Amino acid sequence: MFNLITNIFTAVFSIGFLISMSKDLLAIVILIELILIFIQNIMRKHISHETNNIRKAHGYLSNIVQEYVSNIKNIVVSKSKLKFFKSYIKREKNLMNNEVKLNLVIVGNMSITRILNGAITVVIYGYGGYKVINGQLSVGELIAFQQYTNMLIGPCINIIRSTNQIVQAKVSIDRVYSVIDEEIDIKVENNAFKINHDINRVELKDVCFDYNGFGKENNVLKNLNMIFKKGETTAIVGESGCGKSTIVSLLYRLWDVTDGEILIDGVDIKDINLKSLRKNIHIVNQEVFLFDDTIKNNIDFREKLSYEEVLKICNIVGLNDLLGSLENGIDTVIGEKGVKISGGQKQRIQIARAIVSSSKVVILDEATSALDNISQNKILNNINNYIKDKIVIVIAHRLSTIKDANNIYVLEKGQVVESGSDEDLSSENGLYKGLIMASN
Ligand SMILES: Nc1ncnc2c1ncn2[C@@H]1O[C@H](COP(=O)(O)OP(=O)(O)OP(=O)(O)O)[C@@H](O)[C@H]1O
Ligand SMILES: [Mg+2]
Repeated sequence: MFNLITNIFTAVFSIGFLISMSKDLLAIVILIELILIFIQNIMRKHISHETNNIRKAHGYLSNIVQEYVSNIKNIVVSKSKLKFFKSYIKREKNLMNNEVKLNLVIVGNMSITRILNGAITVVIYGYGGYKVINGQLSVGELIAFQQYTNMLIGPCINIIRSTNQIVQAKVSIDRVYSVIDEEIDIKVENNAFKINHDINRVELKDVCFDYNGFGKENNVLKNLNMIFKKGETTAIVGESGCGKSTIVSLLYRLWDVTDGEILIDGVDIKDINLKSLRKNIHIVNQEVFLFDDTIKNNIDFREKLSYEEVLKICNIVGLNDLLGSLENGIDTVIGEKGVKISGGQKQRIQIARAIVSSSKVVILDEATSALDNISQNKILNNINNYIKDKIVIVIAHRLSTIKDANNIYVLEKGQVVESGSDEDLSSENGLYKGLIMASN
């Protein structure tokens, strides 16, 4: 920016002198410069467009590399290496082509600038020389005119260079702003109601939801009514894709309901401070997220618990066997995405986080799917003491997981078709019984 200001200043200063020497010669010089600026404008649009394409190609390329590196084990096993390489090479070619195009435009731009500036020198000595012969201009003035024209053209070229750089930088800035300016669907009211008490009841009232906003016929959830109470375990079962995890996302306000309402002790969750709402809900998910850090730090994010406390929690979730086999115990680093531990052990770490959490609503969404029946029952019995005063929602395909729940909702295509205890539902000839028969 400093260079730009200096160049503009020098150009304006030179123009002043040039006007005082020969107005008509200057008019020709300015005409050629105007043609140059016009061409520059067109070129600038090209440069901006091509720079944008290059940034996109860079983004895609680094996505592929990142995806490949972080999933290398699964990629090898699923024999999808070739697919990755093909897609990498395609993107790389695309990037190369775009970079060549951009360089051509930039070089072309600079060449046109040089040619037109050369034309200015020709005009000065041609038309200026003619004026000297006719006695309208002295030789000294002609040389001074040429010098001042250089003082005008040099800064003009620099201004053009700077604007090219500014255009390229603007593309990057625009890309950043396209993310920052993305509209937020979940409205956050910072002054909204905060949950400072125990939660006694969570209720879904005529809840409808559609991910894409395509209208009622696309609803994933249809007029759902559910109640979850403090001190009780409520289960949600149903075939894959019937909308179980969607309910969890709505409770956490990752999306807002399309119709109906979700109430926490009678207050609509949209009227509750989002931070406070999420602080009070702990979800143990289908997908386990682990840091490339120690077992201890993966359980206790805030690093507030003592070694003894973390060891006790590890015992509760059945991680003691694993710890016994590790030289560094809970200080063992488990690798990127927990690559050094088994699927069941990863789930145990996730469940341990639920014990550490102070949230009043705990949701276990297929939290024990990677565990065998015996381990699962052991863990569920062990953690019972820690979650018995909370609202517990369990989602599971394996019905043995939810057998002891106080209430079970059976979902079909986003609707509750049955509800009751395991005993009630087993005695009816409904979907629940069908699910039991299918699992035997
Ligand atoms: N982010 C999303 N965008 C669009 N549709 C989605 C999204 N997430 C889920 N769906 C769709 O919503 C429906 C319900 O999905 P959901 O994840 O709630 O099922 P689920 O009952 O938890 O299944 P599963 O037992 O397999 O985990 C599915 O048809 C799914 O394709
Ligand atoms: Mg699910």
